[in-house]
Amino acid sequence: MAEINLKRVDEIIEGYKGEEGVLIQLLLDIQNEFNWISPEAIARISEQMRIPKSQIYRIASFYKAMSLKPVGRHIIHVCMGTACQVRGAPKILDRIEENLKIKEGETTSDMRFSLKRVNCLGCCAMGPVILVDGTYHGKITSAMVESILGQYE
Ligand code: FES
Repeated sequence: MAEINLKRVDEIIEGYKGEEGVLIQLLLDIQNEFNWISPEAIARISEQMRIPKSQIYRIASFYKAMSLKPVGRHIIHVCMGTACQVRGAPKILDRIEENLKIKEGETTSDMRFSLKRVNCLGCCAMGPVILVDGTYHGKITSAMVESILGQYE
């Protein structure tokens, strides 16, 4: 599991001490730094900012930009919207799952990839399409999956 450097968490908290209404920004900073918000980081924030843990969990689970589970270095979004489905998206998802030995919603044990499905990436004409980090890969076939994944270390 991805370790969180608690010293660094303390430094981030330090920058917000004594300020009101900063919890969301503080959590986003932790998210940006570590790619997720661990229970240890939440305990630290709760203790030092005197905010109940339940409130922190409520906010962290509400915002899509925050994750309470560790995520991989690269995030793959597979479009399963209608236009992509009819063009073979389920096969692409199967091939990625097979290749990475994880299921949708999971992260590889080496923390290299997290796999998610989405409903439309807004570029249906390119379907089937996957988004890896910020890059769109369109009109892909299952045979292309391995070489696309190989571009990400
Ligand atoms: S349905 Fe896949 S991009 Fe729109």
